[in-house]
Amino acid sequence: MILIVDFGSQLAHLIGRRIKDLGVEVEIVEPELVEEKLARNEYKGMILSGGPASVYEEGAPSLSSKVLEWGKPILGICYGWQLMAKLLGGEVKSTRKEYGPERLKVERKGEILDGVDEEFEVIMSHGDTVMKLPEGFEVLGRTEKVKFAAVADLERKMFGLQFHPEAEHTEFGRKILSNFVLDVCGEKGKERVVEIEAMVERVRQQVGEEEVIMAVSGGVDSTVAAVVIGKAIGKKLIPVYVKSGLMRPKTEEWVRYVFEELLATGLVVVEAEERFRETLRGVIDPEEKRKRVGELYVEIFKEEAQKRQGVKFLGQGTIYSDVVESKGGGKHSAKIKSHHNVGGLPKELGFELVEPLRYLYKDEVRELGRRLGLPEAVVKQQPFPGPGFAIRIRGEVTAERLEQEKLADAIVLEEIEKARLLDKVFQCFAVMTGAQSTAVKGDAREFGEVVAVRAYESSDVMTSRWARLPVEVLDRISRRIVNEVPGVSRVVYDISTKPPATMEWE
Ligand code: XMP
Repeated sequence: MILIVDFGSQLAHLIGRRIKDLGVEVEIVEPELVEEKLARNEYKGMILSGGPASVYEEGAPSLSSKVLEWGKPILGICYGWQLMAKLLGGEVKSTRKEYGPERLKVERKGEILDGVDEEFEVIMSHGDTVMKLPEGFEVLGRTEKVKFAAVADLERKMFGLQFHPEAEHTEFGRKILSNFVLDVCGEKGKERVVEIEAMVERVRQQVGEEEVIMAVSGGVDSTVAAVVIGKAIGKKLIPVYVKSGLMRPKTEEWVRYVFEELLATGLVVVEAEERFRETLRGVIDPEEKRKRVGELYVEIFKEEAQKRQGVKFLGQGTIYSDVVESKGGGKHSAKIKSHHNVGGLPKELGFELVEPLRYLYKDEVRELGRRLGLPEAVVKQQPFPGPGFAIRIRGEVTAERLEQEKLADAIVLEEIEKARLLDKVFQCFAVMTGAQSTAVKGDAREFGEVVAVRAYESSDVMTSRWARLPVEVLDRISRRIVNEVPGVSRVVYDISTKPPATMEWE
């Protein structure tokens, strides 16, 4: 087993996932518990995660120096490496900030950098940098701005990486982690599969003979979750689709097809467009939007539960990235945004949640869906956020802007589909940016809104790369939006990676 110390990185749990994918067990702990855990002598290596703090900051999470005298391999990532450097007599400064992809130039291969290219792309996300190496350490690789981007004390088997090998968009990231876990620590891997039967049994244990109201949208996550819950409790599952008016057109037909025809579970459709319009009136703060959407969803589900002798359980297709970004995985992590189905829910929920996919990533959910026999048309769909177009309209969601957003979004989707590139992007959409600019339309001046187009590649949602769409496709999207969407003056293409830019604008 490998021990992962969680200093609050958004990606700490991804380290765990990558290692589990190698078929090796992990345990993730808060820094305060490390000494106690190490005393059990069950681990072959330890990884110190990244985190949002600065090592010299008051109250920053730390470790006793004794932990570093453990004698088995230790890998420090980002904050974990900076802390290691500080505790071992190096120096950390807040100077060279980097957020996003950088090129790593390898100076010394072997050990954790075995089997990598001379130069490759790595994901950085740090404000602080190690400026002086502790004694015994040597440089394995550097980036333009960071001299100690990959380092090692080979004798003590201690390694430090300023970048994130666990990020999907770090090339050779998996290789580096597998080098550390399998070669340096000497773990033996075995194949890992998500155990469907165990998952179904857990739902059965939780719910017993009761009914579950299930929030469904026709998307991948809620559909796969519904199939798992359905396998556990059969007809006691009541799928409910709430029509918020914030989804893509034709969503209702799709959900009806999936639940009434494909899965034959039946479906309750609740008309609530007017209520969502009302609750969003005048709201401009992104977090407030999510909170209100979350609260209204729950209110509607409570009403539906009351119609059925007070059902106690609410099923949701929450997945791990929703949880991590909403709450942070652990005690030291920052909240990025409240995904409406997690952080956006009211405190007094009044339901017990049934969330069988809570610990799975998007790509794992897709794979599970396939194994459960769902067709590609279901499992390959683009994700669409619960608060829908509301969080793609910067500022107030008025009826007029919602209409503009729907038209622009449909054009983006249509053109990417026509170019047969839908498979290449994880998500694509238009954003009403709230910015205004001048246009000349038919010789007259128009001061209209700027639409941003976003399209990117990802598989586990935690990091992403903007899609290199052909210029002809971008050109067609741009022309069509300024021509066909009233009140739009300009189109820009968003070329930001995550990190630092999240996928949605709000
Ligand atoms: P971000 O913007 O956090 O998005 O990089 C990551 C993924 O999550 C989706 N997303 C949401 N999904 N409720 C949801 O159901 C939400 O409040 C929410 N916010 C973001 C986003 O579309 C992307 O797939």
